Amino acid sequence: MYSHVAAALLESLQMKTFSQVRLVGGGIALVLALKGAAVSGQDPLPRVAPSPTGNPQTPAKIELGKTLYFDPRLSADGTVSCNSCHNVMGAGDDGRSFSSGLRGQRGGRSAPTVFNAAFLSVQFWDGRAPSLEEQAKGPLINPVEMGNKDHAQVIARLKQIPGYVAAFSRAFPNSEDPVTIDRLAQAIAVYERTLITPDSSFDHFLRGNRRAISAQAEAGWKRVQAVGCTSCHGGVAFAGPALPEGTGFYQRFPAYPGTEYERKYELSKDTGRMDATKNPADKGFWRVASWRNVALTAPYFHNGSVATLDEAVRVMAKTQLNKDLPEAEVAEIVAFLETLSASPARTQMPILPPNPGRAVVDVR
Ligand code: HEC
Ligand code: HEC
Repeated sequence: MYSHVAAALLESLQMKTFSQVRLVGGGIALVLALKGAAVSGQDPLPRVAPSPTGNPQTPAKIELGKTLYFDPRLSADGTVSCNSCHNVMGAGDDGRSFSSGLRGQRGGRSAPTVFNAAFLSVQFWDGRAPSLEEQAKGPLINPVEMGNKDHAQVIARLKQIPGYVAAFSRAFPNSEDPVTIDRLAQAIAVYERTLITPDSSFDHFLRGNRRAISAQAEAGWKRVQAVGCTSCHGGVAFAGPALPEGTGFYQRFPAYPGTEYERKYELSKDTGRMDATKNPADKGFWRVASWRNVALTAPYFHNGSVATLDEAVRVMAKTQLNKDLPEAEVAEIVAFLETLSASPARTQMPILPPNPGRAVVDVR
C-alpha cells in the first residue's frame, strides 16, 4: 500500500519540494520543505470528470441522479434535499457556517460545494468517504441531515413511487430489482460528475488566452507559487496532486500552532481526520481544500468561521506558512483566486415523480 501510493504520488507530482512522505489514516500526508519552489506546469480543469469503471455515465442515470438530488422526499419528513445544503442554483453550497438539516438541526461542519467534487480523490473535510458513491449514502441516514432510520427506509419509500421504479429501471436496465441503495448512490454520483466548471477565466488563461485574467491576478498566481501555497494547493482542483480515488492528501491545520487566528476562529476545536480514523496521529489533519470557486463559497474552513476570502488568505499564510503577507500581496492572491470562479452550464430542473396518491414521508 505504502509503495503503491507513494509511487503514484511521485509520478503525479511535478514539484519536488517534499522532504518526507508518510501515511496518515490510509491516506497521504506530505511533510513539506516549504522553500517556495515554483510549480512547473499547471493544467486546466478537464472538460469531463473521471468516472470509475463500475459506474459509467449514461443520460438515464444522470437524469435519475439529478431527480434524486433535488427530491426532499429522500429525508425522513420530506423537508431536506441534497440541494438544500448544496444549492446548485448557487455555488453548490449553502453560504452558511453550519447547514440546517432535518427540523433545523445544525451539524458541526460547513457544507463544501458539490461543484468539482468529482475531481477530489476523497470526500468530506476529513476525507472519510473514498468516493462520491460512498459519500452519497451518508447524509440520508445522518440524524442532523436527512434523518432516515436506515437506508432500507429510503428504498422502501422510493419503491412506492411508480415514477422512481420506472426511472431506476431505465437507468439500470436488465435488473430484476432496480431500486437499491447502491444504485441510488451511483446515480447521484453520476449526476455530481456533471457538476463541473472548466470555464473559469484562469482555465482560459491556461488554455492560451493570456488576456483572460488581469495583471493583478497574474501577479497573484505567481505569488501563490512563490510564497508556498501551491505546495499544498496544487493539481487541477488546487487541492493537491492527482491521486487514485480513495487516497486523500492531508495536511496539518494549523501547521504552525498557537497563533491568534487559531484562538479567534477556534481552528483546533475539531480534531479533523482523527474523528474519522480514531488514530491520534491524525489529530489536526485535514484534506487540503480546493480553490475552485472558492471566491463564491464563503464562509471558509471546516467550521465556516472566517467570513471573507482576504481573511482566509491571511489565516492560511500565517497558520500554514508562518508568514504575515503585506496587504497588497493578499489582494493579488484574492484577485487570482477570483479567476477560479465559473458559472456552471445551464440545466433544466428535474420533474419529480409524483406521490402515489398519499404521503410517502413521515407524517405527524
Ligand atoms: C443538512 C445539510 C446537508 C445535506 C442535506 C446534504 N449535505 Fe452534503 N455535506 C454537508 C456537510 C456539512 C458536508 C461536510 C461534512 C464533513 O466534511 O464532515 C457535506 C459534504 C458533502 C460532499 C463532500 C464534498 C467535499 O468537498 O468533500 C458531497 C459530495 C456532498 N456533501 C453531497 C451531498 C449529497 C449528494 C447529498 C444528498 C444525498 C447531501 N450532500 C446532503 C451538508 C449536507
Ligand atoms: C501546508 C499546507 C497548506 C498550505 C501551504 C496552504 N494551505 Fe490553504 N488549506 C490547507 C488545508 C489543509 C485547508 C483546509 C482547512 C480546513 O479543513 O478548514 C486549506 C484551506 C484553504 C482555504 C479555504 C478553503 C475553503 O473552502 O474554505 C483557502 C482560501 C486557502 N486554503 C488558501 C491558501 C492560500 C492563499 C495559501 C498560501 C498563502 C495556502 N492556502 C497555503 C492547506 C494548506
